[in-house]
This record gives sequence, C-alpha cells and structure tokens, in this order.
Amino acid sequence: MAKVKTLFFCQNCGAQSAKWIGRCPSCGEWNTYVEEVIEKTDTNPAANAWKASTSVGSTTKAAKPKPLGDIIYEEESRLNTHDAELNRVLGGGLVPGSLVLIGGEPGIGKSTLMLQIAMQLRNLRILYVSGEESEQQIKMRAERLGQQHPGLYILTETNTQNIFRQIDQLQPNVVVVDSIQTLHSTIVEAGPGSVSQVRECTTELLKYAKDTGVPVLLIGHITKDGSIAGPKILEHMVDTVLQFEGDRHLTYRILRTIKNRFGSTAELGIYEMQGAGLRQVSNPSEILLSQRTEQLSGIAIGATLEGNRPLLVEVQALVTPATYGTPQRSSTGFDSKRLQMLLAVLEKRSGLRLGQHDVFLNIAGGLRLEDPALDLAVCAAVVSSLNDVPIRNEICLAAEVGLSGEIRAVSRLDQRLSESEKLGFAEMYISQFNAKGLDLARYGIRVHPAGRLDEVLTGLF
Ligand code: TYD
Ligand code: MG
Repeated sequence: MAKVKTLFFCQNCGAQSAKWIGRCPSCGEWNTYVEEVIEKTDTNPAANAWKASTSVGSTTKAAKPKPLGDIIYEEESRLNTHDAELNRVLGGGLVPGSLVLIGGEPGIGKSTLMLQIAMQLRNLRILYVSGEESEQQIKMRAERLGQQHPGLYILTETNTQNIFRQIDQLQPNVVVVDSIQTLHSTIVEAGPGSVSQVRECTTELLKYAKDTGVPVLLIGHITKDGSIAGPKILEHMVDTVLQFEGDRHLTYRILRTIKNRFGSTAELGIYEMQGAGLRQVSNPSEILLSQRTEQLSGIAIGATLEGNRPLLVEVQALVTPATYGTPQRSSTGFDSKRLQMLLAVLEKRSGLRLGQHDVFLNIAGGLRLEDPALDLAVCAAVVSSLNDVPIRNEICLAAEVGLSGEIRAVSRLDQRLSESEKLGFAEMYISQFNAKGLDLARYGIRVHPAGRLDEVLTGLF
C-alpha cells in the first residue's frame, strides 16, 4: 500500500501547502490550514474518475488560435426548466453541459426546489443523487409535492465512482446532486466535506458535464458566515452559483444569482413555500406591498429594479426621540451607511432635527436591496415618520438623492413607470433629469419631476 500522503489546505480559499502555515499566503486569512489525507491510488485511475483516461487524449490535442471572425457562434440551446423564476435567474434556461451550484442554509428549501424542478422536467430522464436523505424520505417529499414523473430516478449514494457507474448505465439528461459536501471520491482519502474532497468531486462532475453536455445541478451548504461551505474555488469551478435565501420563519424565498457565465447576475427569483412545495411568485410587488387598509405614517413606496424586473417595495421607517445618549440607526434590507448618509442630507439640506432621534428602517418582505433609486423613498419614509404624517398610498418614488440634496436620475425609468402604473399608482416622484427624454404623456400616471429634495418633501406633505 502506498504511503499515506497528507497536505494542508486552506479552508477558506483552497490553497494547499506541504506544511502548516499560520496565515494563508493566498487569501491572507489566519489559522485556516487543516491537514487532509490525500492518497493517489494510481493503480487503476481509469476506473475511478469520470473517464480519467479520456482526459489524456484531450489534453494532448493542442488548440490552434483562430481569427475571431472565423468562430461560428451558435446560440446555446437552453433547456426550459418549466419554472419561470429559475429560468430567469439562469439567464433563460439551463445550458447543456453546465454545472450549477445552488447554495443555501439548511432547511431553506434547496432539496424541495431541486426535486420540484426535476419533477417538472417531463419527457427527460433525471437522476437525483442524494447523500442526505433516504429513498423513502425523498418519496415522501415527492408525494407532498403531489406530482408524478416516470423518468425520475433516485440514487442514494455518496461515492462518485459508484455514481458515475450508475450514470453510465442510466444515461440521464439531467443530474441533480444533493449535496456536494456529502460526496466522496476514492481518489482522495480525506473525509467528505473537506476541501480536497469537495474539489475532487466537483472536478469529476465538471468533467462529466463538459464531456457529455448533461447539465448538473449541485446543492451546496452554506456556513454560518453566509459563504458556501468548502473552498472558494468551488464557486470558481462551477458555471453558475445561485443562492437560495429567505427568513425561515417567513414563507418567501429568494433565488439570487451570484455568478453566471451564461447571463446576468442581477436576476432574482421569488418563491413562496407552501404546504405542497414552492410556488412561483410572478408578481412580487403584490406581496412586497404589505396589505394595509388605512394610511400609516413612516411608509413610502419605492419603485426599484432587481435585474430586469421592476419591483415596488414598501420602505418602512420609524423615527422616535432617542432616550439614551447616542441615537440608534438600524436598517434591515438597506445599506446602513447609505441610510446614515441620507439622514445627514436630510439634516443639513432640509433642516430636519434627526440628531436626537433613533431611526429604524426596514424593507418589507425581507428583501435586501441596493438600488440607489430607493433613496428618495427612504427619505420620504423617514420624514413621514418624523412628522407623523402619512404619504397618500397612490404615490410612489424613484430617484437617487445626492449629497447636496439634489434629486438624481435613475436607470430604466420607463420600466419603473409602467410597473407602477400597472399596480394602480397614480403619482410618481422622479428626478427632473429623468423626465427630459421621456414622453410622460404616454403613461397613465402623474409624474412629478423634481430637482431638489425640498421640492419633493413640500409636494408630499
Ligand atoms: P428542504 O428542501 O429539506 O431544505 P434544505 O434542502 O434546504 O435543507 O425543506 C425544508 C423545509 O421546507 C422543511 O422545514 C419543510 C418545508 N416544506 C414545506 O413547507 N412544504 C413542502 O412542500 C416541503 C416539501 C417542505
Ligand atoms: Mg436538503
């Protein structure tokens, strides 16, 4: 038997070293090196990894440079997942041969989502590999989802060599792996979930996907600090990284693109967890605008964009006199530095006394938003709460606020206007610079172009 060989791996970035190091030279993190056993079983490599022997042939075939003009571009034929939200975050469907990683906290619904997608891929042969649950558990979940799929195969196996053997026999059209942290390859001796195992198993799956053109959907766990467990390189290796997030106590789930080689990363899918699986939320503005019958102070509606999709969100602010020394500023779903800046602008440019007040800000629905177009809604909500004067609920706002209190233009105002109109808003406050190029008469919504924050505040209150 070969001598046991060990290497030290940085648990943060996946860098390796022959000896233990206190500080990783590649990512700069301290105390991240962990010893892992790796032993190359070179006795029979071909039987192990995904057709390891073919890689020899392909690497020796040298590529030649080609003039850009000679390269024929074919529109990738994408596989429709029959789930509009997933199609959108993937950039228009599943690309053949792509490796997609779906990360999320335990219990958020990753397995549910993947099983549901697998069940919707009718007329295809799907292999659902699970190292987490038993066949019975998966069957129970499938029953709960209330769907049937004759071509869906469940394999409870964690050894990649065995998995590939089954894949060879079954020849599936799509493979789902739940989860990458449970897989292990015999090529590497370290335990499942370790850096070297995760890397090796991902490499094997990547090679399989690229060689056969079969898309592979990988589920990955998320550590406490929110990153996908395992080395950062896992994210570099796959084509697409999606994150499934949401508050476990709320029913809404958000599928967000973190990385996508085949589309935009600004996309967002919204689901609602129900008794019988995840329901696509095709009109998110309706759920984001909390139902209220009376007009309350401290609420302003912002017209924002997530990816290509306009969303109307409710910005809630609570401004109360500070009881103890330093006033508190707390923000959920909105950058707290940006909130501080907007409060300073309100104080300096509009003469509001906020220095003696606690300010709490919340974006309804559990969304995290970074669109600067929300600035104006944030300011309006704060002023509304401070003066305890509600904003009429047919009003929405979309503009960035500059440091000198100027109202700045935002991108794609036409989309924001159409969405607001569709949802029944009657008036919208925007920047005067946005108003210039637009044919405002086209919209059935009254537009108030403004140049300065003061003008908006006088208009509103
Ligand atoms: P699960 O997919 O197991 O999460 P993950 O794979 O990310 O760990 O789902 C977790 C939760 O979803 C679980 O608490 C039960 C709930 N759930 C529903 O509310 N409705 C359903 O139809 C299903 C299948 C699960
Ligand atoms: Mg799971």
